[in-house]
Amino acid sequence: MRVLGIESSCDETAAAVVETSADGVGWRQRSSVVASQVHIHREWGGVVPELASRQHLRDISAVVTQALADAQAGWGDLDAIAVTQGPGLVGSLLVGVAFAKALGVARGLPVLPVHHLAGHIESLALHNGDLPWPAIVLIVSGGHTSLYHVPSPGVYHLVGRTRDDAAGEAYDKVAKLLGLGYPGGPLVDRRAASGDPHAVSFPIPKLTHDDRAAGPATYAAPGVAPVSKRRADFSFSGLKTAVRRHVELATDRGTRPLTERAIDDICASFQRVVVQTLLDRTFAAAAWLDVRAVGIAGGVAANRGLRAEAEARGARTGLPVFVPSVALATDNAAMIAAAGLRRWAAGVRGAVLDFNADPALQL
Ligand code: KG4
Ligand code: ZN
Repeated sequence: MRVLGIESSCDETAAAVVETSADGVGWRQRSSVVASQVHIHREWGGVVPELASRQHLRDISAVVTQALADAQAGWGDLDAIAVTQGPGLVGSLLVGVAFAKALGVARGLPVLPVHHLAGHIESLALHNGDLPWPAIVLIVSGGHTSLYHVPSPGVYHLVGRTRDDAAGEAYDKVAKLLGLGYPGGPLVDRRAASGDPHAVSFPIPKLTHDDRAAGPATYAAPGVAPVSKRRADFSFSGLKTAVRRHVELATDRGTRPLTERAIDDICASFQRVVVQTLLDRTFAAAAWLDVRAVGIAGGVAANRGLRAEAEARGARTGLPVFVPSVALATDNAAMIAAAGLRRWAAGVRGAVLDFNADPALQL
């Protein structure tokens, strides 16, 4: 079984070929091509949706052609096409969805619509082989901070999510505040490595009261006592504000520049709080749900501080921690092809081609 994956939900145009291994167990990546638009959006300090969809249109044909060439595959070697249906920017999603549907009709191939976050979750199994299920998976990216209970392969239950900013978004905003550039995550990560994580005592975000963005009160996993959903939710906008206030004070409202050392310390202190918040919730949920593994996926899973601390906590609690490679952590189409293979294994044989891009698709 060989699947062409297509991803265009945000600012990366990507295509990849992934197949089931010769022994029938696990998946093998034959190719993965990513055309990043970072150079276009950098000028604006964030993704500009209209520019993103136009660039997807320019890039998608060449990216798909390259993915097939790298995989040494022709159209006749493919069994299906998997495409990100949502969530994401609607104009961006439409490019991938329309392209996949057209290919499906032209080449007589079934088209499997895939949820972007299912792709991030399956990046773990693509990179590591199947995890010991049940697992808890934290997805941390520029657009999402969500915790999923995965009781068995291909089954995803939302346990918690951010009520405001995503963790990657907080990284990007803090980087902007410090004048570091875009995208901010890798830059803050690098500066954090030379700073003192205890130099500034930013508050650890706590969700002690219900608010308008709170979800349903409980998450009931099959066979497990209901868990207070509130306790598994995240919030990062208060932390971002705390960093802004600290910078305002330290610079006398922008009249004095921060020293390089002060920037390193702010990055390290911010990162310590983000990492602690993410892992406190994840490992608490792992204990409540009595899982056998912890997975961390999405762009922020590339963060060195997060990886190191997750592994340390995993070792302390006896839970194996799985992360994807850096290339599979940020947006790519190999994970989308893998999610397509997962759906195929569950008996899905392609969608009726009137399905549409859905910017708010639920998993
Ligand atoms: O998964 P992804 O490529 O796209 C989304 O679906 O959002 O994630 C991109 C996000 C950006 O916010 C970027 O700043 C962040 O991941 N990121 C990082 C690191 N590398 C990328 N954040 C922290 N540390 C990193 N090393
Ligand atoms: Zn993503």
